[in-house]
Amino acid sequence: MPRPIEALIHQDALAHNLARARAAAPDARVWAVVKADAYGHGIERAFPALRAADGFALLDLAEAQRLRALDWRGPLLLLEGCFEPRDLELCSRLNLWHVVHCNEQVDWLAAHKTQAPQRVFLKMNSGMNRLGFRPDAFRAAWTRLSALSQVDEISLMTHFSDADGVRGIAPQMAVFQAATCDLPGERSLSNSAATLRHAAAAEVRADWVRAGIMTYGSAPDFPSNDIRHWGLQPAMTLRSKLIATQQLQAGDSVGYGSRFVAPGPMRIGIVACGYADGYPRHAGTDTPVLVDGVRTGTVGRVSMDMLAVDLTPVPAAAIGSEVTLWGRGPALAGQPTLLSIDDVARAADTIGYELMCAVAARVPRHALE
Ligand SMILES: Cc1ncc(COP(=O)(O)O)c(C=O)c1O
Repeated sequence: MPRPIEALIHQDALAHNLARARAAAPDARVWAVVKADAYGHGIERAFPALRAADGFALLDLAEAQRLRALDWRGPLLLLEGCFEPRDLELCSRLNLWHVVHCNEQVDWLAAHKTQAPQRVFLKMNSGMNRLGFRPDAFRAAWTRLSALSQVDEISLMTHFSDADGVRGIAPQMAVFQAATCDLPGERSLSNSAATLRHAAAAEVRADWVRAGIMTYGSAPDFPSNDIRHWGLQPAMTLRSKLIATQQLQAGDSVGYGSRFVAPGPMRIGIVACGYADGYPRHAGTDTPVLVDGVRTGTVGRVSMDMLAVDLTPVPAAAIGSEVTLWGRGPALAGQPTLLSIDDVARAADTIGYELMCAVAARVPRHALE
């Protein structure tokens, strides 16, 4: 018997969330962002549900190759562009569109021998200070690129640092607009948070949105808003089973470091899931979890292969009971149950992005229709 832990990838939720991105930015085309192996869901597993996207955006050339191997002939965008000059050969061969964010990448293009001019997305650093040309250098980069026979179409792009928060996107939008208002080319501005929160505003409308985390059913601006608010569905369920139960008396402790001490008699369950499965070790007591669809909490420290949960609200639980670490739980009294990855992330002082990307290779993943 394999360990009972598994990750289910919900095709219907992926397709639904992609449709939500379209609805939020109805005039735009949608890149499904599938970097980091589709945020941990697996490119091959997510692809059938996401093939309604207008394109796929990612970082890794090997992942781009995997999408071409799936017979995806549409647009593929390398969000960080080329890492070295010879990557341009693969861009030519696979017809990859790529971000140009620095002068070195323009130099590589200028030296690249190709019969097929390439489409590039010129990236502005409008305030994030990661990748891109500063506004005062943007036009010079555009002018250089537009003189190159290796370049076909130039699109314009930037990335927001605070689309999910109170600072918002206005300062970066103003910078981007001022520096690009008279430049031709398609625009791509919004990530998930900007798509949901700002993309309907006239000045933020653009040709392409880049929908990442929302595609996978995590709210980009949690806890201000949750998936219910945005009409998103969890695309991943991480589930396992109870492999033991323990009856504790007052004063009994649980797990390494005896971090949890029972205040009175209580029953706990031991779940086949630990930090070697990608569950966050820093999730403290009371991190939410469903046992047989009933919401309860973890107790004590998460160990490598196991964690403990309070069975007080679910007295019928026994070895073999289903444990939902996040995602869709079993129906309870005929009603579907759900534990958002965002709730778990908050309890572990992290974000849904990190949890879904961190599910370990040893956890079998299955696509569910
Ligand atoms: C340039 C760029 N665009 C879009 C995204 C997608 O962001 P999100 O997952 O928040 O939608 C990312 C992710 O970090 C990114 O780096």
